[in-house]
Amino acid sequence: MRFLPLDKLINVQEGYRKRFKIDSTDLILSKENDQIVAFGAVCPHQEQSLEEGHIEGGVIYCPRHQFAFSLETGQHTAGHCRPLPIYEVHYEGNEVGILLES
Ligand code: FES
Repeated sequence: MRFLPLDKLINVQEGYRKRFKIDSTDLILSKENDQIVAFGAVCPHQEQSLEEGHIEGGVIYCPRHQFAFSLETGQHTAGHCRPLPIYEVHYEGNEVGILLES
């Protein structure tokens, strides 16, 4: 696994949400309810951007058709859509990022 730094930890305050496109990885880093999560930037249903998705109770709701995906597993809560990619958040020094397969 290799660490891909995304931002300085001090910048990631409550309500933070930012999209990153790095090579073939397109993801959103977000902090809501005191929890930092990283997930795929587009909905697996019809590729709506999740930048405006509502997060509540560990789930993100796509703004287009309101499909809900677990931010822990990426699974669609109703089970009939492909999962949303979830990335492992990692910290090194004063930076926060994700772990990627090497
Ligand atoms: S595009 Fe996200 S639920 Fe349909």
